[in-house]
Amino acid sequence: MSNPYLPQKAELVEVIQETSSDLDIKTYRLKFTDGGKMDFMPGQFVELSIPGVGEAPFGFASSPLNKEYIELSIKRVGLVTEALHSLKAGSKVWIRGPFGNTFPVKEMEGSKILVIAGGLGLAPLRPLLLYMFDEQNRSKYGDIQMLLAARGSGDFIYRREFEEWRKIDRTSVTCTIDRPEEGWDERVGFPHVLVSEMDIDTANTYAVLCGPPIMIKFVSGKLVELGIPKEKILTTLEMRMTCGVGKCGKCNIGHQYVCIDGPVFSMAQLSQMPGEY
Ligand SMILES: Cc1cc2nc3c(=O)[nH]c(=O)nc-3n(C[C@H](O)[C@H](O)[C@H](O)COP(=O)(O)OP(=O)(O)OC[C@H]3O[C@@H](n4cnc5c(N)ncnc54)[C@H](O)[C@@H]3O)c2cc1C
Ligand code: FES
Repeated sequence: MSNPYLPQKAELVEVIQETSSDLDIKTYRLKFTDGGKMDFMPGQFVELSIPGVGEAPFGFASSPLNKEYIELSIKRVGLVTEALHSLKAGSKVWIRGPFGNTFPVKEMEGSKILVIAGGLGLAPLRPLLLYMFDEQNRSKYGDIQMLLAARGSGDFIYRREFEEWRKIDRTSVTCTIDRPEEGWDERVGFPHVLVSEMDIDTANTYAVLCGPPIMIKFVSGKLVELGIPKEKILTTLEMRMTCGVGKCGKCNIGHQYVCIDGPVFSMAQLSQMPGEY
């Protein structure tokens, strides 16, 4: 990366409405204009700005192996995200990055992978999944078990892709919602309860979690109880950020800056940090 403060212009080439509930999440497909490009690895994020509105950090949601475009999945919560949600295909935004550390894809080779995601938490894990699903990479990883949770059936993101994911060699996808719903024939219940029923090879599994803090707390507690070492339970944090490059001090937890030391942390690392996240 040359100048981390210098954004590149990108065009919204497609906008996909993900959720059909009050939780408004859209996936934005972006192509850099003026010959720009951005290589990244799973776990990293960008700062996206809309001139006259502001800038905010978002994790990559697309495959790092796709060099044609990047995708970001974004929930409407405030100033920047509200403005973004009103933009249509063809609009231009500015992007700088990539920032942050990555999931340890090399260290994870040879292990089974357990992915537990709640709602929008699946977004920053999708680059990792698509990276491992790639035919050049699939044989490097063991079974991939996914437990995908949402409040209700309308809250899942990327649901259109789940059937394709289920067809991938040694890959399983279990979906669960909080309460029973008419027409829902998959699981009902919270992920920390369902995880106890899964057949997990605790000696040789990396668990990757992302979702609401309460979900991370209960699920990681259960995984530790089941015997997965804290070093092999990974998550990604979403602290408030400004610079993205370790200069402004906005994102620190103790002596760690989430923007450069994270956003990916193991439970072993988090257990050594003040509980501010
Ligand atoms: C590394 C990283 C990756 C992220 N990835 C994604 C992603 O993939 N998709 C996505 O939708 N969001 C993601 N976020 C969160 C996203 O950055 C915030 O939702 C965004 O900054 C809100 O901007 P806004 O101007 O719309 O909201 P604001 O107008 O700034 O705030 C609206 C409301 O959201 C709260 N808020 C703002 N930022 C945060 C935050 N970081 N954590 C908790 N509450 C916050 C405010 O307190 C306020 O209540 C990520 C954050 C980080 C740090
Ligand atoms: S966002 Fe500025 S130090 Fe992390």
